[in-house]
Amino acid sequence: MKNRVTLLDKSFKPFISNEQIEAAIDAVAQRINADFAGCTDVPVLLCVLNGSIIFTGELMKRLDFNCELISMKLSSYQGTESTGKVRQVMGMTGDVRGKRVIIVEDIVDTGHTIEDLVHIVRERGASEVRICTMLLKPEVYKKDIPLDYVAMEIPNDFIVGFGLDYDELGRNFKDIYVLDPEPDYHVEDKSIQTMKYYILFGPPGAGKGTQAAAMAEKYHLCHLSTGELLRKEIADGTALGLQAKALIDKGELVPDEVVEGMIENKFQSTQGVEGFLLDGFPRTTAQAKALDQMLAKRNECVTSVVSIMIPDEMIKERIRHRAAIEGRADDASDETINNRIKTYHEKTEPLVDFYQKAGKYAEIDGTGTIEEVRTQVFALLDTF
Ligand code: IMP
Ligand code: MG
Repeated sequence: MKNRVTLLDKSFKPFISNEQIEAAIDAVAQRINADFAGCTDVPVLLCVLNGSIIFTGELMKRLDFNCELISMKLSSYQGTESTGKVRQVMGMTGDVRGKRVIIVEDIVDTGHTIEDLVHIVRERGASEVRICTMLLKPEVYKKDIPLDYVAMEIPNDFIVGFGLDYDELGRNFKDIYVLDPEPDYHVEDKSIQTMKYYILFGPPGAGKGTQAAAMAEKYHLCHLSTGELLRKEIADGTALGLQAKALIDKGELVPDEVVEGMIENKFQSTQGVEGFLLDGFPRTTAQAKALDQMLAKRNECVTSVVSIMIPDEMIKERIRHRAAIEGRADDASDETINNRIKTYHEKTEPLVDFYQKAGKYAEIDGTGTIEEVRTQVFALLDTF
């Protein structure tokens, strides 16, 4: 069992081990087997998708009487709060008329879902309805409907694993984890994280490129600049490159999925580094969320944002200086410079807030010399 898992913006700690879950399922299956021993009818197990899939499988393989399996899909949760409104997303996959039905649920919380289910199954003409749930939160269960078989009772906390999800993630964990409302991110990163994922922020002219090269070398990081990656894909004539080129030639932006796909490929294909330094991605809160999701799938998370800051006046000064030396077209006029500063503020500021809330934002004063800034950057990275 991992000491901590991160899904999207939330952190979870160990709660119920797979061994404990299996033992509880053994016990509940034994009770059901005793109650149905010698039955001549063929009772129906109704698996409530998606959460109950794993529990239903584990339960069913322990049952020793003839039974059928059908499923249906309901949904009442959004994020970590029960909405109280249950939607029937997918109808029942089989007939229950005249049959004994055991509704198999992953978890009963307020009981809205189970109440609706019992109602639906009765309406469909089942001769008897029983309820079997892997988990029950007795503190919040508000209904009078008796729960015939409960494998485990838990306090009113939000959990994931063994079929249960947080926004569709975490169902695959074989143990159950509980939400940790105040995680210590630094402890978390050190204990489970094998790879580092740094995000480099900073306005044009802050010296990102210079510092990125030094960071990549000293800390064995792969520097992923989305601009450079796109140019390389185009030059190599890859499918992704062709798609990107078509859009860029039409003057359109390369969509998020394309950039995200490119980054994900790089995470997968890059070997022998200790981490990644993302430059130019994420650019929007939507991309930041997509990145969290991408990393969560790998049981990883963002280590820290490294933000190199200089005041607007210095941005202009440095860009003018660079224009004089390099003659870059996008550095030329005051109007373009101002526009870039404006875009930078509009796009980047929401991200600062996003990562600050996650406790993953670190800002470095970029006004000093290259060496001065580098010393600060290294001092920061040494803490991770
Ligand atoms: P109820 O209708 O409030 O009883 O909620 C039942 C449904 O909410 C379950 O079938 C789950 O899908 C979901 N749910 C309740 N508690 C949790 C939890 O702690 N983690 C994940 N999903 C939960
Ligand atoms: Mg469910």
